[in-house]
Amino acid sequence: MKRQYYRGSDLTRVQSIDELRELARRRLPAFAWEYIESGVEDEHTLARNREAFQDYRFAPATLVDTSARSIGIRLFGRDLASPLVVAPTGFNGLAYPRGDLALARAAANAGVPFTLSSFANTALETIASEAPGHLWMQLYLLDNPAIGDDIVRRADAAGYAALVVTTDAQIASGREWQRRCYRAPGQLTLRHALDAACHGPWMAGFLRHGTPRFENLRDFFPPEQLSAIRGAPAITGQLKPKVTWQDLERVRHRWSKPLLIKGIMSVADAQRAHERGADGIILSNHGGRQMDDAMAPLEILEQVKQALPDMPVLIDSGFRRGNDVLKAMALGAAAVMVGRAPLYGLAAAGQAGAEQALRILLAEIDRSLGLLGCNTLAETGACLVRAHARS
Ligand SMILES: Cc1cc2nc3c(=O)[nH]c(=O)nc-3n(C[C@H](O)[C@H](O)[C@H](O)COP(=O)(O)O)c2cc1C
Repeated sequence: MKRQYYRGSDLTRVQSIDELRELARRRLPAFAWEYIESGVEDEHTLARNREAFQDYRFAPATLVDTSARSIGIRLFGRDLASPLVVAPTGFNGLAYPRGDLALARAAANAGVPFTLSSFANTALETIASEAPGHLWMQLYLLDNPAIGDDIVRRADAAGYAALVVTTDAQIASGREWQRRCYRAPGQLTLRHALDAACHGPWMAGFLRHGTPRFENLRDFFPPEQLSAIRGAPAITGQLKPKVTWQDLERVRHRWSKPLLIKGIMSVADAQRAHERGADGIILSNHGGRQMDDAMAPLEILEQVKQALPDMPVLIDSGFRRGNDVLKAMALGAAAVMVGRAPLYGLAAAGQAGAEQALRILLAEIDRSLGLLGCNTLAETGACLVRAHARS
């Protein structure tokens, strides 16, 4: 008989992130799916992010008592239950009504920090009051610096624990599969509008809750530009290529808690971030969404750790399995951010789906840690081998 993924609504039967991905793909209209899934241009970076994990293999130790193992970590002076952090993703309201809240609640229930995007569809204060977990705020350096100042001030006041400054999206990327859904910026083609109408459950949620809006930018744009579909070109148009390392000083000056720079892809930039006062960096190619033919962050992790042994180095892009997370931790990552993995869960079934995504990843991390014969994530380095070094 042909192998087939589960297609029903009993989430406890969903085994893997890939299976949740398939449920998400079926529930979403193509334009919303392409927004989440597509990579830039030929999607080489997107593919490389997954392939890079196969450059490493495990050499497990056997007959070790791992009954008291822990997947916990310590990060910025806090004990965390696992090495996962939910990455910032904008426009979550396209995946599910009140998507940011659903994702933040799922993260809080799993004990996983949640990062809210500058381009979220829920006000950061609402997340803090209705999904009080361990919250981080993401910041884009926009053309109007007053917008960033406002977000930093509000995030601090609302108790966000860390600020993530994303630096790799100052130029609009060529996600062609996403662009093909529109006949003009912000206007779906007839075919995609009809496709949306044919996705009944998704459409019903969309109509009931209205078009998601950029709620964190509402004091800076006229109401018609706050729509996450029609207003997106105007809002993302605030991202300009003139931003440099100097612009970080303004943020560092205003934010005293942990500051992370996201989008680092070289040792030299990791060092610059360190010199500019960042408390941590996130190696990331934005999940293959910005620059095609980029390296996978996993490929530079070891070098960056060697150059900056005391700096917390987080990583994202392509993590879909517990084993992927263990490989990064073995190479010295301080934590791993997951973007699409929980988003697939959110798009498939809201908060319950996002919870299932995190549950699957956490169970895989725990199970593989035990199978490696390790009791802590710090021990995993000894069990990792470069695949080509085996012969
Ligand atoms: C749909 C989507 C929206 C995203 N929006 C943002 C964003 O608003 N800010 C940001 O810093 N990164 C954003 N990212 C990038 C993620 O934070 C993260 O770097 C990436 O998803 C990691 O790769 P993965 O999806 O393979 O886990 C987005 C990613 C996706 C998939």
